[in-house]
Amino acid sequence: MSAASLYPVSPEAAAQSLTDEATYKAMYQQSVVNPDGFWREQAERIDWIKPFTRVKQTSFDDHHVDIKWFADGTLNVSANCLDRHLDTRGDEIAIIWEGDDPADHREITYRELHHEVSKFANALRGQDVHRGDVVTIYMPMVPEVAVAMLACARIGAIHSVVFGGFSPEALAGRIIDGNSKVVITADEGLRGGKKVPLKGNVDEALTNPQTRCVQKIIVVRRTGGDIRWHPHRDIWYEDLMRVAGDVCAPKEMGAEEPLFILYTSGSTGKPKGVLHTSGGYLLYAALTHERVFDYRPGEVYWCTADVGWITGHSYIIYGPLANGATTLIYEGVPNYPGVTRIARIIDKHQVNILYTAPTAIRSMMAEGPAAMEGADGSSLRLLGTVGEPINPEAWHWYYETVGKSRCPVVDTWWQTETGGILISPLPGATALKPGSATRPFFGVVPGLVDNLGNLLEGATEGNLVILDSWPGQMRSIYRDHDRFVDTYFKTFRGMYFTGDGARRDEDGYYWITGRVDDVLNVSGHRMGTAEIESAMVAHRKVAEAAVVGVPHPLKGQGIYVYVTLVAGEEPSDQLRQELQQWVRKEIGPIAVPDVIQWAPGLPKTRSGKIMRRILRKIATDEHDALGDISTLADPGVVPQLIETHNQMR
Ligand code: WT7
Repeated sequence: MSAASLYPVSPEAAAQSLTDEATYKAMYQQSVVNPDGFWREQAERIDWIKPFTRVKQTSFDDHHVDIKWFADGTLNVSANCLDRHLDTRGDEIAIIWEGDDPADHREITYRELHHEVSKFANALRGQDVHRGDVVTIYMPMVPEVAVAMLACARIGAIHSVVFGGFSPEALAGRIIDGNSKVVITADEGLRGGKKVPLKGNVDEALTNPQTRCVQKIIVVRRTGGDIRWHPHRDIWYEDLMRVAGDVCAPKEMGAEEPLFILYTSGSTGKPKGVLHTSGGYLLYAALTHERVFDYRPGEVYWCTADVGWITGHSYIIYGPLANGATTLIYEGVPNYPGVTRIARIIDKHQVNILYTAPTAIRSMMAEGPAAMEGADGSSLRLLGTVGEPINPEAWHWYYETVGKSRCPVVDTWWQTETGGILISPLPGATALKPGSATRPFFGVVPGLVDNLGNLLEGATEGNLVILDSWPGQMRSIYRDHDRFVDTYFKTFRGMYFTGDGARRDEDGYYWITGRVDDVLNVSGHRMGTAEIESAMVAHRKVAEAAVVGVPHPLKGQGIYVYVTLVAGEEPSDQLRQELQQWVRKEIGPIAVPDVIQWAPGLPKTRSGKIMRRILRKIATDEHDALGDISTLADPGVVPQLIETHNQMR
């Protein structure tokens, strides 16, 4: 490793931050040697109603996977994010909201947020929502989304946030799987000056007869745009709030009672409802938020994710609010009304910590210096990245142009399933290497295994597994524990399999190399190839489809689809557009294929399995590296596919 690509911790940074190298080493050591003792102590940062006596009760044995933390303790998550701050920082800002239009912003104190959440919690109860009921939240990035989530937590309802960019079909699937009683939405969202018909999408989703579980739709008025209204089913948020009482005692919840479900894509089947519970999740989100971002009281922290993803749950809402932080919620897109929008928000609200994704960094970078032109940026102290491997070029641009070579960059590796960050630098402790997520967080024991599951030692590369439980870990797939066990604990027995590949260098640093399963990462969004394929074949003109990921300069990965049409259908540009529109409707804009290649046939093994490996090589022009194709059922399709691919370029 050359010295040029190592960024040591400055002595000042080490002195000022919560965790220096010696502290990291000592705490990490304790966390893995004596997890019970470590987490018992860390759990003091949570206000428990009834203290726990048991700490860690976990098993990765694939016959009996069972994960429980602090199981006999009780707490309320919303009280931890709100009530307990009222005496010490009630009048400090909890949420800075920046609207899509730069003229729109709001500041909400902890006291005000507590008041709103208490009222809305009462309103939900009034709509017959109780402990254990599932509430679907399909909303824009407005403060009410935080109110809705925390109100659910206050009464023990389970929220299921669905990203506002998902289509009515995708929304319906999640409503049905969760058996949701209530949907909370807005009349319309506003992004980049364009209106998003959220309520219209909910109406459309509910035309699916299997969504009869839904009794009420609660609608936040955002734009005042025209919407259809069903008087027996739809209620305005503001009407509920006008009459709701403002005192709502937080429900005492078991540490292992569900807090939320959140759907994520896997290599097979429908999206999975990842289940997170209350005590361990909150502790892990809060501790990682404090240590990884080295959060100091009074600082302004901005995570640019959408609450529809886990990053938004853990690092816009739960982690920051549990820590009494000021968290910025931004409604819009990074480049509206112009390429300097991110820089302007940083200056306007004096943001100290910025947490964003490589895809956003690359699109700023594509503007050259323009993205930071005229910006001061001197409030920034720390930068973070998440969602996909960050290429060193983007890392350097982020470090130099956004952070003015003053701010450490924390490259945080984690997943929806992990609840919080598992591998990341700690700014006062870890020398940085651009492109590496560096070292494990407290209590996290990563391992690399070969394809047979043998643990590999030293500097090497392999499949990334985690060998023991941490408090933020998902507990199950909602109402499908067998699938949970099969997905994560069967590939390598007794280990949690992440689906990622990684390299470990001579300093013990981890370099995530990307997914090793059939999952794509498009602009930091996870997409199952199977999911896109099944959307494609649902079109009546499509006989078969195979999806592979290809490198994309901005998105990280682009979606490349091989399509075989049903007999009698002819390829055309018009049909290509029709299929792209179709996927947009079936899943959402993030799943729209970048390239559709017509395929007379697909390379398959004699047992009928599509050889994606070969398709990936064709799509990325590695035609010399196809490997042995003689075992294919019809090797003749390969040269045909190469020829068509070459004609398209
Ligand atoms: C997958 C998880 C966790 C929040 C955002 C995505 C990839 C995530 C990094 C990183 C390299 C990363 C992995 C992971 N990923 N962060 N810092 N470096 N890869 O959550 O949708 O559950 O996706 O994102 O492939 O498995 P998610």
